[in-house]
Amino acid sequence: MNRIDQLITTFDLGLRTVFASQHAGRPYPATEAEAPLSDAERAQAAALMRVNHVGEVCAQALYSGQALTAKNETVRVELEQAAREETDHLAWCEARINELGGRKSLLNPLWYGGAFGIGVAAGLLGDKWNLGFLAETERQVEAHLDGHLQQLPAADSRSRAVVEQMKADEARHAQTAVDHGGAPLPAPVKRAMRLAADVMRQTASRI
Ligand SMILES: [Fe+2]
Ligand SMILES: [Fe+2]
Repeated sequence: MNRIDQLITTFDLGLRTVFASQHAGRPYPATEAEAPLSDAERAQAAALMRVNHVGEVCAQALYSGQALTAKNETVRVELEQAAREETDHLAWCEARINELGGRKSLLNPLWYGGAFGIGVAAGLLGDKWNLGFLAETERQVEAHLDGHLQQLPAADSRSRAVVEQMKADEARHAQTAVDHGGAPLPAPVKRAMRLAADVMRQTASRI
């Protein structure tokens, strides 16, 4: 793909992520029947899945930005494979939000733009740091999803099934990034990333 094609594809992915509904390549993990949930439980589960959906919007943007600037062809191919799995996550979160009668975050264009910029910046630092940033992001997302498994209503096995599959995928993405030479990030950078994710989580749970 030449540079112009790549830019058009990147722009197209951004628009589709923010404004359209994505299709998953793999089957939807929620196979159990819908459990009876109270209105409060449904609202709580929908808010948590909205936060997860925002996380996946950011994942699309990060991967897209990183793939645009990744130097090594193998790294680019790996990023694209992981990004396809992130598209499954995005589609599954949206499907679950719809089942729960919730809505997506109104700030998705903002989340996408911010994360895309961070992805491009990480890619420009070179593959070692690009992959290190990716590994740390995936680890933090994995820990975050673990927290959601504790917070989701006990009876909501459909949301749980989605979150559990995502968590397994994120752990694999982190390992892939490390295997391809991702460097461990300095502690202050990890802290700043956690802080930014906290702001995103708190905002997305409401807006
Ligand atoms: Fe994901
Ligand atoms: Fe991931």
